Amino acid sequence: MSMTDAAYQKCINPDCGAEFSCQEAIFKCPKCGELLDARYNWDKIEVPNKLSDFAKRWSTRDNKLDFSGVWRFRELLNFCPDENKVTIGEGQTILQQNSAIAQQIGMKPDCLFLEYEGLNPSGSFKDNGMTAAFSHAMMVGAKSCACASTGNTSASVALYAHHCGLKCTVFIGSGRIAFGKLSQAMDYGAKTIQILGDFDDCMKQVQDVCTNLGMYLLNSLNPFRLEGQKTIMYRIIEQLGWEVPDWIVVPGGNLGNSSAFGKAFMELKELGLIDRVPRMAIINAAGADTLTDLVNNKKLLWNDGNVDQKIIDDYYADFTARNFSPHTCASAIEISRPVNLKKCLRAIDVCNGVVLAVTDEEICDAKALIGKFGLGCEPASAATIAGLKHLLADGVISPDERVACVLTGHLLKDPDLTVNYHKEKQGQFSNPPIEAPNDLDEIIKLIK
Ligand code: F0G
Repeated sequence: MSMTDAAYQKCINPDCGAEFSCQEAIFKCPKCGELLDARYNWDKIEVPNKLSDFAKRWSTRDNKLDFSGVWRFRELLNFCPDENKVTIGEGQTILQQNSAIAQQIGMKPDCLFLEYEGLNPSGSFKDNGMTAAFSHAMMVGAKSCACASTGNTSASVALYAHHCGLKCTVFIGSGRIAFGKLSQAMDYGAKTIQILGDFDDCMKQVQDVCTNLGMYLLNSLNPFRLEGQKTIMYRIIEQLGWEVPDWIVVPGGNLGNSSAFGKAFMELKELGLIDRVPRMAIINAAGADTLTDLVNNKKLLWNDGNVDQKIIDDYYADFTARNFSPHTCASAIEISRPVNLKKCLRAIDVCNGVVLAVTDEEICDAKALIGKFGLGCEPASAATIAGLKHLLADGVISPDERVACVLTGHLLKDPDLTVNYHKEKQGQFSNPPIEAPNDLDEIIKLIK
């Protein structure tokens, strides 16, 4: 593919704006070091006139690209030829209208929707991004790959890597990863390196390792990963009968999802495929609230791409001086230097977004509420419902607005937290097992 083709990469820094071919695996602008976007020459792509045209692909599901919940929207992420596209059946997710949880948190019963990304092959939303990034890896002929992870990225990378025949190394922080996720990376055959440090340390190391050894990087710095994650929004719109919700609520960690969602809506609007952009709420954990603090207190803005770098540099310099490391029970989002910060600021601008942080206690109770009335999720995902409760109480979201919460990971990802919450009676919805003697009468008495 050359620069005259349908897709190219472009630096998000307006003072630079350098462009590169999609054949390059670079992940940061070689000229200025900023993030890169995948961009399209839409006039060279046959995009359907209306989103509902994509529904036709349900009838051709024997074609594996039409079966994929990512690739059946392929005209909207048209950066590689079909023969390079890899798929393991990702994106078969459901959007559940959940009136029980809606009522519990004071919404109109038909207004709350839960997007279950835990139904993906590796149990989290990451598979949406990996199918796209691995397709790019195949396109550029990568032979080995790596990522840093709080757990889900490593599970997903390990799964796609063995599917594609790529050598795979994952970096995790010591003691910072939920067991369900660690077991996946090991079982899928990845070389798993546990660094004495946190996720942010791993993120830095993996970039240097990839540069040194010429390995393909699969963190969300990779612009093609975010292209795949856009489809989570397409599926929400699809499942709402091709209507846009009023709000998207998403947990914020490395800020890949929020960035991808903002880009999805920006493009759909530009293409005239939607008439309005939903608002977005990004929810941090209180122990890892860089975005919330920078946006709400330090007033950091996208500002047409002219982000005030000094605010960010001063903020991180203070972290370094204090040897700060983030802490939250939602280990997936235990991140203090989110790599997609600037793209997320753009998403906030596009979606008139809000950000806030919730406590671990709120996350655990929200998680148990989702488990009690829904299909369950891991702690980071439950930050959405915890945050939504605040936004309703503060009047930012009204009870009759249609809200879609993205539940990013499966309940079984972090079994320890769930077991402790219930067994140790840690919260409002604790439901511990009842010990019974091995005696029929006594057992019946307990059930009646
Ligand atoms: N929810 C879950 C379950 C996650 O695993 C992550 C990120 C997030 C939310 C945050 O998403 O980074 O797009 O803002 N997990 C990454 C990992 C960091 O390494 O698995 P984000």
